[in-house]
Amino acid sequence: MTNRRLLNVLNGQTETIPPIWLMRQAGRYLPEYRAIRAEAGSFLSLCYNPDFATEVTLQPIRRFGFDAAILFSDILVVPDAIGRSVQFVHGEGPKLDPISVEEINDLVPAMVLSKLSPVYEAVEKIRDKLPDETTLLGFCGAPWTVATYMIAGQGTPDQAPARLFARKEPEAFYMLIDKLVEASVLYLVKQLESGADAVQIFDSWAGVLDDDLYVKASRDPIARIVKGVREKIPGAKIIGFPKGAGLRLPDFVKETKVDAIGLDWTVPLDWARDNLQSHVALQGNLDPTLLVSGGDQLDASIDRIMQAWSSGPFIFNLGHGISPQGDIDLVHRLINRVRSYAS
Ligand code: CP3
Repeated sequence: MTNRRLLNVLNGQTETIPPIWLMRQAGRYLPEYRAIRAEAGSFLSLCYNPDFATEVTLQPIRRFGFDAAILFSDILVVPDAIGRSVQFVHGEGPKLDPISVEEINDLVPAMVLSKLSPVYEAVEKIRDKLPDETTLLGFCGAPWTVATYMIAGQGTPDQAPARLFARKEPEAFYMLIDKLVEASVLYLVKQLESGADAVQIFDSWAGVLDDDLYVKASRDPIARIVKGVREKIPGAKIIGFPKGAGLRLPDFVKETKVDAIGLDWTVPLDWARDNLQSHVALQGNLDPTLLVSGGDQLDASIDRIMQAWSSGPFIFNLGHGISPQGDIDLVHRLINRVRSYAS
């Protein structure tokens, strides 16, 4: 047992009141984030400045007292570090030059060690300034999700360009996945060595794959990252978030050996309790739209999750990131309701 309640849950314990944090808890719904974002200029200069990154990581902890802080960065700093140039265009999201077969050869995974040193510096600074009881989470994107942006050059509705690339150029595609596995292991190990208590692997686009690609592009590369990280840091605590994995979740948990599984809001609560919670801690899964709409629906949805999952290892979170329209008062209401819960 430690005084970091979220870490206790990752160690398999059940906390009477679940620890709570929110994906994208630092972001545009906070006026103090928008102020620093404007001062930094570009989004990447915010990520690559350890003082700015530290400040925006701490903002939601100061305001809400969450049980965990998540390093402020982005999954796309990895492609930026290993040889692709990434830009965030205001109102449009990330933009990269779509990678060619030849260019995949030139990627250098070890560049994450030197080029992302401001990130490791931020992790050290954040740990230094965080309350002792707050768990610090590092993260990376899963190889499949990062590859989708590298191949299409931007977000797309169903990642058809990356799926097609995997069919037409399998050799190059799996070389890209392998390089991202290697970069991710180095990156996560360094975050853990710099002071992160645990890390989360975001596979936001796991849900668009058929059986074959799910195994080869999403699940197995994540399993290799988990294994690679634990070879360097035995017992490293890792949360997987294969958004949209649905019926494949039990298989994902078994094969990747993650300590907790992030669940999106489409996952049925009783099914998750019955099929997953005896193997792994659950994290999720409130629909982020409820933090925009509020009302009785918000309270009832919080209660349903609390009732379904509180008897086992459980971390309260959203089913995906909070939206820029998220309402600060509703975030307070959510935290109060979870913390004052008596079943
Ligand atoms: O959770 C946190 O508070 C930590 C910070 C964090 C960001 N991105 C900051 C961010 C984390 C963990 C991410 C992960 C991320 N980034 C994912 C996986 C999780 C998910 O949401 O599915 C993905 C797919 C990305 C790629 C990405 N970054 C996109 C598609 C976008 C544009 C969409 C958007 O929300 O604007 C970003 C930009 C981004 N990353 C912002 C933030 C706060 C907004 C940029 C801004 O402030 O202008």
